[in-house]
Amino acid sequence: MTLTIGVDVGGTKVAAGVVDDHGRIIEKLRRPTPSTSPHETAAVIAEVVDILKGKFDEVEAVGLGAAGFVDESRSMVLFAPNLAWRDEPLKKKVESQVGLPVIVENDANATAWGEAKFGAGRGEDHIVLITLGTGIGGGLIMDGELYRGRFGIGGEFGHFRVVPDGRRCGCGNRGCWEQYASGNALVAEARELARVSPALAGRLLELGDGSPEGISGPEITEAARGGDTAALECFRSVAVWVGQGMADLAAILDPGAFIIGGGLSEAGDLLLDPARAAFENALTGRGHRVFADIRMAELGPDAGIVGAADLARLR
Ligand code: BGC
Ligand code: NA
Ligand code: ZN
Repeated sequence: MTLTIGVDVGGTKVAAGVVDDHGRIIEKLRRPTPSTSPHETAAVIAEVVDILKGKFDEVEAVGLGAAGFVDESRSMVLFAPNLAWRDEPLKKKVESQVGLPVIVENDANATAWGEAKFGAGRGEDHIVLITLGTGIGGGLIMDGELYRGRFGIGGEFGHFRVVPDGRRCGCGNRGCWEQYASGNALVAEARELARVSPALAGRLLELGDGSPEGISGPEITEAARGGDTAALECFRSVAVWVGQGMADLAAILDPGAFIIGGGLSEAGDLLLDPARAAFENALTGRGHRVFADIRMAELGPDAGIVGAADLARLR
């Protein structure tokens, strides 16, 4: 049996695992992501890899899933809208510290690969994976293969501009889909509601610390589960953006399934039901075509680790 290490590197945490060839995680480790220094981030990645490989001699390679645009040779993070990476030679830095072959992959691509092979996408060759978290991650499985585009950075559909001159995005443009349909968008929606109409947002404010800024994702989900109208309205408005975006993606890509992952997907049907309705209302040619299935991710927060490790195995 061969083992590889997968590492999911996001804005808040570095999560790593030793993974076997059935996609099973046999040991896990996580650390907070150092705030703004790419150099320290590479050091933390190297540290977790060192600890894990010290426990398992069979580890052969390392796959890093990074929340940004990764070049075609899977070495550099060219750009990260929500992190400090700019032309960052991540492969080189980590390889020199851990003494194992390293590949770098976009975090959502790694998640898509993990879900396609071991999770909700098994048996489906045409998958659009969407992670809803800080931003929106995209991963495309086409004809059973991970689609990277000509320069490695295909599938960045969080930066599809859905509102001309809309909200400012971390990528520098305005009106990107991730400003309307991510976990962050849900929080922004709830805080705005609480500022403009505190009376309507009473329950949300009560679950937070009493101020609009005290409202975060888990409070909104809890309030919505309890039937709070304001929280449900926030979910509905974000879900409509999710569903309409999926309809546009289906117009281009015609997938068999959409798989929804990321922190926001933990809300389950609160999100999926209105998103599915909006998708079916917006899809071009509806009534004359099959609606793609819309599913929850199965591997949860581990999908990125499993996918990155498997891609390192197949390198
Ligand atoms: C980035 C993607 C990343 C996604 C999820 C987006 O803002 O552009 O590269 O996959 O966030 O982390
Ligand atoms: Na991607
Ligand atoms: Zn953007």
